[in-house]
Amino acid sequence: MTAPIKPAGSAEAIAEAAAILKAGGLVAMPTETVYGLAADAANPDAVARLYAAKGRPRFNPLIAHVTGPKMAQRIAEWPELGAKLAATYWPGPLTLVLPKKPDAAIADIANAGLDSIALRAPAHPAARTLISAFGAPLVAPSANPSGSISPTTAQHVADGLGDRVDLILDGGACPVGVESTVVAIDGKRAILLRPGGLARVQIEPITGPLEAPGADAPLASPGMLKSHYAPKAAMRLNASEARPGELLLGFGAIGGHINLSEAGDLAEAATRLFAALRDLDARGPERIAVAPIPDQGLGEAINDRLQRAAAPKDDPTP
Ligand code: TXA
Ligand code: MG
Repeated sequence: MTAPIKPAGSAEAIAEAAAILKAGGLVAMPTETVYGLAADAANPDAVARLYAAKGRPRFNPLIAHVTGPKMAQRIAEWPELGAKLAATYWPGPLTLVLPKKPDAAIADIANAGLDSIALRAPAHPAARTLISAFGAPLVAPSANPSGSISPTTAQHVADGLGDRVDLILDGGACPVGVESTVVAIDGKRAILLRPGGLARVQIEPITGPLEAPGADAPLASPGMLKSHYAPKAAMRLNASEARPGELLLGFGAIGGHINLSEAGDLAEAATRLFAALRDLDARGPERIAVAPIPDQGLGEAINDRLQRAAAPKDDPTP
């Protein structure tokens, strides 16, 4: 049976969603980045259901969504650098990976048994209202089958996971369009685990230059697999024209079959990215060619998603 889709602005739908979550069910909710598949972070059975619904490997930990710093401090240590970032950018598309408090009410499988926990306060009013109504952290990965393109509309969620969730809240198209930026805080060090909807240039004035995750970085993001966000079609990046068998995803002056932003605006391109990939893929081309995207601002996150979308699907290396 396909899950009902209800308006996220309705108080009744929010109350129903909170009740489903209390009972261990799964609710898809809009956030400003992408739609998330929410479950009670403290309920191991609910979280196990969530991993199963997505087909997500259990070594890939989840983000706990909170209303703000107060709820975050119930489950994580709160170093000064994290507090500063949260004060500036929460609610918003920034996830902080922090040391987990040993007595935190978080199911072990939610953070893959790590001693750290990823936390984010989403800005979308529906997500905020739902977390408040629930009264405790909700884990929520993107609401798509693991490895496929992230959803930015309620219909995308229904297409991918409709028969595996209990309720879909429809809050319209996600304004940011790519997932949150994930930054791990280790004392005074800040490591960029995933570029995302908050650009590096906005973070570095507070943290100094962000470190890259690497052999000597204290924390890695176990879920950053090379192949992700993959359409059915093959992909070719940095293309200036469509070759036979290809549909072209354009940017700026490179028109394409769909253009991410004729004005060359990277925020607009991020907003449209996942829906455009889905749209082109649904037309059944052999390959999707993509125009070059500048690597500045939100371009870093867009290029990260495009590179993962283009990676061979059987490549297991991170
Ligand atoms: O914008 C977003 O972040 C969306 C919306 C729904 O909030 N959520 C999302 O979740 O993108 P997900 O599960 O698709 O991505 C979570 C990322 C993964 O790369 C995961 O490996 C990393 O965060 N992560 C989670 N907990 C971690 C931890 N304790 N240490 C390191 N990385 C962690
Ligand atoms: Mg995801």
